[in-house]
Amino acid sequence: MTATLTGTAAAPTPAPGTAATPAPATAAAPVPPGALPEDPTRHRVLTGDRPTGPLHLGHYFGTLRNRVRLQDAGVDTYLVIADYQVLTDRDVADNLSGHVENLLLDYLAAGIDPARTTVFAHSAVPALNQLLLPFLSLISIAELQRNPTVKDEIAHSRQASVSGLMFTYPAHQAADILFCKADLVPVGQDQLPHLEATRTIARRFNERYGPVFPEPQALLSEAPLLLGTDAGKMSKSRGNSIALGATADETARLLRRATTDADRTITYDPDNRPGVSGLLLLASLCLGRTPEDLAAEIGDGGAARLKQLVTEAVNDHFASLRARRAELARDRAYLAEVLRAGNARAAAVADATLDEVRHAMGMRYA
Ligand code: TRP
Repeated sequence: MTATLTGTAAAPTPAPGTAATPAPATAAAPVPPGALPEDPTRHRVLTGDRPTGPLHLGHYFGTLRNRVRLQDAGVDTYLVIADYQVLTDRDVADNLSGHVENLLLDYLAAGIDPARTTVFAHSAVPALNQLLLPFLSLISIAELQRNPTVKDEIAHSRQASVSGLMFTYPAHQAADILFCKADLVPVGQDQLPHLEATRTIARRFNERYGPVFPEPQALLSEAPLLLGTDAGKMSKSRGNSIALGATADETARLLRRATTDADRTITYDPDNRPGVSGLLLLASLCLGRTPEDLAAEIGDGGAARLKQLVTEAVNDHFASLRARRAELARDRAYLAEVLRAGNARAAAVADATLDEVRHAMGMRYA
């Protein structure tokens, strides 16, 4: 499916110094699920993840697979490893380099090609981070405080007090996206408030200082929500996820424990039978068949037959990805080189943007 994207042209330039009142936020129109831009080579995509450990099957079907598709279609793609966004999580911050390496392995094993996609850590790109300061001047404390994603994170953080860094996430994420002037951002629903903040910051910057940034659009995933082995949303923190790089045996063990129900006749009924239906959905994504079709095939074979089918489907579908991942894991020098080259490429782009920003702001003195 293709869809025509609406223009992302920068706002008209006001006379310098006239944009005193920030314009109100307008709703971003996310690009329809599954849409590929009409001329992929005219777009730049930025997306990324927090390095909190290995990615799971929900990440794969939700976003990773789609990023590879965009890259392969010829979209200029950037992937940020958002390491400054995990400092508020103590457990993660303690093994940051391990988490970064695991994330990189998942990317590469899934088909991210470092020759075509720039993979970088935002902490390694100084000029990107420097954009945070002008960006913070374009957004109010009240706006940061009522950002639903920030609110949600605060509610889930197990900390006694909320750090200042937490409130800067929307502005910092705007720097992640705008440093390379990305116009498309593949994200989940939960990130839409951050994207809205990015658009607001881009628009206000352009109004105040002249047209520098595009107002990026969200590219929502077409994948249905994948459930974990306990029939809740698949999430690493819930302990119900299957890692992309899990072994076949680990996968079998996790799926054997998965929640199902006592009805021997397998049917696809997500509302009333979330456990059984979640497993059918996972198998259907791996096999490219409908969950209803798979349910009919299993018939009254019960949960045991269902789990056997899902296990085989997952293990077959991911066998080559996992083999590639294991092989790459043995070549740490290569991993370091991929990140070094990605960081350098991102830094050159960020330097050029920061230079433009300084110029627009009248901050080039020498
Ligand atoms: N906040 C995102 C998450 O939690 C990660 C992220 C950081 C990101 N910077 C980004 C995503 C820029 C898209 C674009 O998953």
